[in-house]
Amino acid sequence: MKTAILLFGLGLSGLAIYSCHKAQPFTKDQLDERMSGGDCTAFDESSGAYGNLIPGLSERDEQFHDVGDKFFETSFIPSGGQANGLGPLYHQVSCARCHVNEGRGLPPIGGVPTESFFLQLSMPGEDAHGAPLNVPGFGSQLQDRAVTGFQPEGLVGVSYFETDEFLADGTKVSLRKPTYTILNPYTSLPAGMLMSPRMARPNFGMGLIEAISDESLLKNEDPMDANGDGVSGRANRVYDYLINQANAIGRIGWKAAVPNIKNQAAKALLEDIGITTSVFAKSNAVGQPQAKGDVEAELHDSILNSLTFYMQTLAVPARRKVDDPVVKQGQKVFAQSGCIKCHVDLHETNVNVAFKPLSAQLIRPYSDFLLHDMGAGLADGRPEFKASGSEWRTPPLWGIGLSERVNGHTNYLHDGRARTFSEAVMWHSGEAQSAKNNFKNLSTAEREALLKFLGSL
Ligand code: HEC
Ligand code: HEC
Repeated sequence: MKTAILLFGLGLSGLAIYSCHKAQPFTKDQLDERMSGGDCTAFDESSGAYGNLIPGLSERDEQFHDVGDKFFETSFIPSGGQANGLGPLYHQVSCARCHVNEGRGLPPIGGVPTESFFLQLSMPGEDAHGAPLNVPGFGSQLQDRAVTGFQPEGLVGVSYFETDEFLADGTKVSLRKPTYTILNPYTSLPAGMLMSPRMARPNFGMGLIEAISDESLLKNEDPMDANGDGVSGRANRVYDYLINQANAIGRIGWKAAVPNIKNQAAKALLEDIGITTSVFAKSNAVGQPQAKGDVEAELHDSILNSLTFYMQTLAVPARRKVDDPVVKQGQKVFAQSGCIKCHVDLHETNVNVAFKPLSAQLIRPYSDFLLHDMGAGLADGRPEFKASGSEWRTPPLWGIGLSERVNGHTNYLHDGRARTFSEAVMWHSGEAQSAKNNFKNLSTAEREALLKFLGSL
């Protein structure tokens, strides 16, 4: 069905993903380039742009969305009330503390508990599910807060080393490389421990990402780089803790280590807030002297389901300035520079007659959701399922132009080291080396157009 889209003069690439058996034609609205999330797009440029409900929900579904919203915002407490069970170890008391306005986190300051960032930890090797091996005494994340009577596991320390790079037109781009340390660990850290820094990511559009079929994601895989363009790309294969099954296609998180939203919500509840659920019923302090030991699920399944539904039903913000000639030129530069090989513009969600709002949507996430080797500069050296220590998932770029409006800062990449789009691109290497070189060699006008295009997403 390539031609159907080309006829409308839309889409720059990524068209190869369409099979000849498309279930239904797209509507005129869906072909409008402003509709990043298809019909699940919200026209909102305010600081609330990431937190809108998708249209088309029944009144009953809106109620479930609102219950999820309420628990996303609710501050958990150690005991008493409906939202209890906090800790004993945790990072933040609520989802919304890290995902402020359903948005992106901040890199750490160092020496104080983090706001919206954590270090994932592991020992080399894999557990029975193929997940990274827990660190004795610390588990899989460094929790830097604890409830009264318990000890935080330690604090994150960070220092930056800054180097200058120059673009072809002489513009200086300053790159800061972080080094992380663990300060005041409550017990000694084992030798050989691996760490991976993670900054919180936005939450909108997750239902659409989940609704892309495995099959169409896998169509963009090119593990042996058979087409010789220097870009390979493969899906992560991970463990689905809801159905206890290995080899699920990973699509969520900076390393695509999580297969779907409910797994992510349950994991966040456990590791980030210290709340157990039916999915993860063991406390995150298991194996530690301060553990409560095995406990029952602290949060009812209905609330986990509502939180999941809330994430599934957050609309994608509409693009702005799509007809601006400079933005249009930038879109061409984006394609010509090879950005689009990984930041794939178009995808189609599966037909889902049981839940029509997310069904058969033409969406523009600007990601292939696959893993790419991004080179030594970005490597964390910590494998996660099939992702190596230098592979990262292409993050979706939709909505990224509103980061500053929503979160008051522009910190990009998995650890927030990049402070501008140009810095983010100049950190690209490995499979993205030639795209980065193309970016470096753009004329001033072409580069400004590209940056303006990114700002329109
Ligand atoms: C301590 C801060 C923190 C808290 C609290 C937190 N998150 Fe997150 N969240 C993160 C980080 C960091 C990531 C990226 C994780 C990764 O890549 O492994 C993330 C990723 C996500 C993602 C995936 C986004 C994407 O683009 O792939 C979802 C969905 C999510 N969180 C939902 C939640 C929910 C629901 C809660 C509350 C139950 C929550 N988070 C609580 C920090 C937090
Ligand atoms: C080989 C695949 C690949 C290519 C080609 C590529 N990117 Fe990326 N891009 C990634 C990955 C993977 C990341 C995440 C890296 C990280 O966080 O360490 C990323 C991150 C980004 C980010 C930051 C996103 C965020 O949420 O923090 C921006 C902006 C970006 N890329 C723009 C571009 C532009 C512009 C080009 C073309 C000049 C480009 N990329 C080419 C794979 C690619």
